[in-house]
Amino acid sequence: MTDDIPSRIADLSQKLHFHNYRYHVRNDPVISDGEYDRLFHELQHLEAEHPQYARADSPTHRVGSDLSGDFPKAAHPAPILSLANAFDEDDLRHWEERNLRLLPSGSRLSYVLQPKLDGLAIVISYEQGELTRAATRGNGVLGDDVTANVKTIRTVPLRIPVDAAAGAAPPRLVVRGEILFHKDSFLELNQEQEAQGLPAYVNARNTASGSLKQKDSRETAKRKLTAYIYDIVDSEGLELQSEWEILRYLDALGFNLITDASLCSDLDEAAAQLAAWEARRDDLPFEIDGLVLKVNDMSAARELGVVGKDPRGAIAYKFPAEEATTALLGVTIGVGRTGKLTPTAQLEPVFIGGVTVSNASLHNYDQVAALDIRQGDRVVIKRSGDVIPYVIGPVPGARSGNETPIMPPAICPFCSTKVVQPEGAIDWFCPNQTCPERIMRTLEFFVSRGAMDIEGMGPQTIAALIENGLIQDEADIFTLPAEPLLALEGFAEKKVENLLSSIAAAKARPFAQVLTSLGIDGVGSTVAGLLTDNFASMADLQAIAERIRDAEIEFVEQTRPLLPAVAADDSDTEKLRYRLEHPTTELAPRYLNAPELGPRLERLLRPLNLAAESVAIVAEYLKRLNTVSRPLHAIEGLGPILAQNIVDWFTDEHNQNVLAKMQAAGVNMQAEEKVVAGTALAGQTFVLTGTMSAPRGEIKALVEANGGKVTGGVSKKTSYVVAGESPGSKVEKAAKNGVPIISEDELRALLGE
Ligand code: IVH
Repeated sequence: MTDDIPSRIADLSQKLHFHNYRYHVRNDPVISDGEYDRLFHELQHLEAEHPQYARADSPTHRVGSDLSGDFPKAAHPAPILSLANAFDEDDLRHWEERNLRLLPSGSRLSYVLQPKLDGLAIVISYEQGELTRAATRGNGVLGDDVTANVKTIRTVPLRIPVDAAAGAAPPRLVVRGEILFHKDSFLELNQEQEAQGLPAYVNARNTASGSLKQKDSRETAKRKLTAYIYDIVDSEGLELQSEWEILRYLDALGFNLITDASLCSDLDEAAAQLAAWEARRDDLPFEIDGLVLKVNDMSAARELGVVGKDPRGAIAYKFPAEEATTALLGVTIGVGRTGKLTPTAQLEPVFIGGVTVSNASLHNYDQVAALDIRQGDRVVIKRSGDVIPYVIGPVPGARSGNETPIMPPAICPFCSTKVVQPEGAIDWFCPNQTCPERIMRTLEFFVSRGAMDIEGMGPQTIAALIENGLIQDEADIFTLPAEPLLALEGFAEKKVENLLSSIAAAKARPFAQVLTSLGIDGVGSTVAGLLTDNFASMADLQAIAERIRDAEIEFVEQTRPLLPAVAADDSDTEKLRYRLEHPTTELAPRYLNAPELGPRLERLLRPLNLAAESVAIVAEYLKRLNTVSRPLHAIEGLGPILAQNIVDWFTDEHNQNVLAKMQAAGVNMQAEEKVVAGTALAGQTFVLTGTMSAPRGEIKALVEANGGKVTGGVSKKTSYVVAGESPGSKVEKAAKNGVPIISEDELRALLGE
């Protein structure tokens, strides 16, 4: 084994040189950052253990550089150091032991712990309080002078202190920080790209870097970059003793600091926070790739000194890699209950962040085309938190030429119906409501907890019932006879009896739960509650949907002949035509309460140059549509798209048929009388999260029966968050906002149960 060490070192060096070249020179990496780090770390480790084999040309000796030819160079006042990595708690313990050996015996170290932002380093100088220069890290000694670009970033103060009351600025202050995209800004940027038909950006950090290195600072200004400052590189007239003091001082000057830095009195205290940070990772507004741990006492840190380019007094604790590359072997197609087609990548199994991943989401075919992902490609996979792993993009540099484009199928793989892409949609759909796969997914949802909650009806039972022709849709469940069930394999008498009795019990589910189980797009338990608060029965909902649909058709038929027959070549005209063709989502909600429709429509429709009489006709039919839609559109918390989904669902013939069958079978379709059990919770607002002893709909009803309110999201108005088992991120949001978190038992205690 020992014999292999020199060759492994040679092999790693060669690989790292190659990947450095792919990344920095070709700008076309073939492995992920995580894999690069792993190779780099292994080499570092081997070289440390066997210094006799370390090579002079080792990639570990090279200081990385982001210098480009486009900017003047700026010399940093002190080397811009980097950080050594730790990958687990043991690495941290060794790091501390080594440090303690270098310090006077009996030394004790406290630490500042903060997230490690996945952006790019920036060094900003202030003279007499004025921003005079900003430079990238470059090679650590020289950087690119990007002052004009950095000045466009709003979180960077141009003058310090921002609040004059904070005293005078030091004569000279050079700070260091990180520039990045907040996740929502990056998403927004990609939405704009998409709207313009341009390809999406794949990697937020590279895009931030590209944005900062624009030759024209007006281009940088258009990107919503954010800067966080975390350190002082150089200063005059300052005497700070600890990292914690530095942070407080930077804060007072008005710099944007990473929130949630903590001062830990020892390593145990820091180590105890690692897991919680990793769990929070996906809830943060920015990407982090680990944590930074710094010795708080600056004189101790100075004494520890620097090895290579890494100060001994600080370390990066890296989270397990979330990205890896692997081969895309094939694509399978899933069909959901709405008919939506979802392509899934079948992968050569790859180990990411502690699990083996062999398939990953490809989102949708538009995205596949935009990213130019091809069958046979090497692809970058991301797995983060609880999110299903997904394909970030291809590695074009690894292509052999035998890769083939991935196209949406022409027909549904389950029922052979021609697939469709509705106007304006990015997804493709199987339009066949009797597609066996759609029925399977519909039924799975229909019987699930929170929906009809039918015990003993797992996917296998459903599949058996469909295969044997015993059910064609969800309503058939309620009229299942016993004899043919007994003939099915594995269905003994007791099992059939149990199944039939849970089906019978399900007929009496509360109205809101029945509504939820229909699987109307966007109608979960919260929206179902809004609907049942406003409509007394399923028949009422169907009636309003039909009236709205009729008024909508009437509106479109009456207004279409008024539209000028000009070619819709300009986008304003096109938008207006679209609005007139989709009045239920585009016009009715926004003019629902407009007292004078005529003049307001006249203003909106001006680019169409309609005659005054025509505007009056549009106004007339819109008024009718508004009157009819009011009961639905006026519900607070129910947006126009949801309203449209509801109208679409209830006016569909297949769905009407299912409802009629359910009604005939005795399923409850009526709002219950509001039983007022008490007023113990009057005036209080609750948010429910996690699994509880009963479906959430029931807990909600319980709260409401006692005068309380249940909402979906945590806000300042929330009185309590009730957390069941494995609660979601709402608990963290509550903790952050100081909203009390209680258990289901504590909720019941409030009710005096
Ligand atoms: S402190 C002496 N704190 O991570 C080094 N660095 O892998 C002082 N980074 O080059 C660095 N977030 O660009 C520090 N909270 C943070 C950081 C952070 C991100 C970057 C920084 C550094 C790299 C090291």
